[in-house]
Amino acid sequence: MNTFRVKPLDDILATAERNSLTRQLGAFQLTMLGIGAIIGTGIFVLTAEAAQKAGPAMMISFVIAAVVCALAALAYAELAAMVPVSGSAYTYTYAVMGEALAWVVGWALILEYAVSAGAVAVGWSGYFNGLLQSMGITLPEFLRAGPYAGGMFNLVAFLISLAVTGLLVVGTTESATVNAILVSIKVAALTVFVIVALPAAKSANFHPFLPTGWGSPLSGSGLGVLGAAASIFFAYVGFDAVSTAAEETRNPNRNVPIGLIGSLLVCTVFYLLVGYGAAGANGAQPMMVDGHALQPGSPAMATACEGIHNLVCSKQALSFVLRDLGFPALGNLVALAASIALPSVILMMIYGQTRIFFTMSRDGLLPRGLAKVHPRFHTPHLITLITGTAVAFFAALFPVGLLADVSNSGTLFAFAMVALGVLTLRYTQPDRKRPFRIPNVLVWPVCVGAVLGCVVLFLSLSAFTKYFFAGWAVAGLILYFLYGVNHSDLARRPPR
Ligand code: ALA
Repeated sequence: MNTFRVKPLDDILATAERNSLTRQLGAFQLTMLGIGAIIGTGIFVLTAEAAQKAGPAMMISFVIAAVVCALAALAYAELAAMVPVSGSAYTYTYAVMGEALAWVVGWALILEYAVSAGAVAVGWSGYFNGLLQSMGITLPEFLRAGPYAGGMFNLVAFLISLAVTGLLVVGTTESATVNAILVSIKVAALTVFVIVALPAAKSANFHPFLPTGWGSPLSGSGLGVLGAAASIFFAYVGFDAVSTAAEETRNPNRNVPIGLIGSLLVCTVFYLLVGYGAAGANGAQPMMVDGHALQPGSPAMATACEGIHNLVCSKQALSFVLRDLGFPALGNLVALAASIALPSVILMMIYGQTRIFFTMSRDGLLPRGLAKVHPRFHTPHLITLITGTAVAFFAALFPVGLLADVSNSGTLFAFAMVALGVLTLRYTQPDRKRPFRIPNVLVWPVCVGAVLGCVVLFLSLSAFTKYFFAGWAVAGLILYFLYGVNHSDLARRPPR
């Protein structure tokens, strides 16, 4: 039993060549694809949670998360240009660090994709419920949030997840044109927000600037600037979706790095402006009890927020700020934009998940039957239905911040493995063609910086999230040794 067996890069490239999809995406479409996957619940909703964790200093959290993602994006760019195939971090790890780790990365990507789809659905439900309310329709309290946030079952988050799953089963994938329209809607909403909120920023709103301090990676509270950075990291996740489209890209060696880095850059500029505008225009002071900030998404926070008009209590952060500044119509417009555009992020996340499951079952690490294709719709309906139903229940029962944090734990792990993969390949395969190459003098600082950044953010997550991830990884390894190790394609091949 060799759990360190690697899938040779040439095999991976040959498989991709055989199954090659039409190469039609260019740098612009890839950048739009990235922006489409990035802008979502993170900036529209979790800005309020970041404010609860760090106060106005959440702006620094936005910068920290952006730096870690930028370093990881460079690493992704090098690997994605070298190995332009689907499967993302899972495939790269398989080629570099062996099957067992690749399995754990694939297993962690379930958190990145399926759990984050749930988080986006919950975030969407806040805006959609607000929109319903502005039309005079109010769902009963117990159907507006999960048990952790003062309700019982988040009905609209559940339904949107099932609706998106239904679309994926019948074979709807977002076309580049639809994506471009949705990206324009999101970018327009953020632009409106920035134009209105920036001039309204007052220096008084930035005091106290650090009400909860810097936070400590070891405290387990998930609060402070670092805790907020570990959560708001969610807002940047999605740029790696660009690498999953590598097989459909023209001249991927040039265009994939442009798409990865370009989309991250555009979003970072917007996020920094939005973070500054939200804190400066409205004030972003956390809800405290006995000098301690409450945990966002906790029952205590839900109780403290009852009847309170405060950004940190809002489920529709950006609309809240606009309404508060005296622009209710613009607030409703932004809510409408979020309601229209966020479901596409759910779609991309569930779609990404099915692609990863698909690749894993193609490799024999998951039962091949799971990837069965529907005779009429030609989609992997079984795996889509299983994923979508799980997403719907996550969304119905758990608060957005918890889902986002759990998702971040898996993403941070995957990002760190990609950065390690870049370094390893520089030594094991120095002569392989690298169409996008991190300059030699920078490769160590970039990759070590990415790994350290991921480790610090991971440790800054709440204790619950870290334990959950550890349990998840152990469960994954047990599953691997019970199933994958014997069923893997590589296990069945004669040794070469
Ligand atoms: N970055 C994506 C979002 O914020 C996942 O919704």
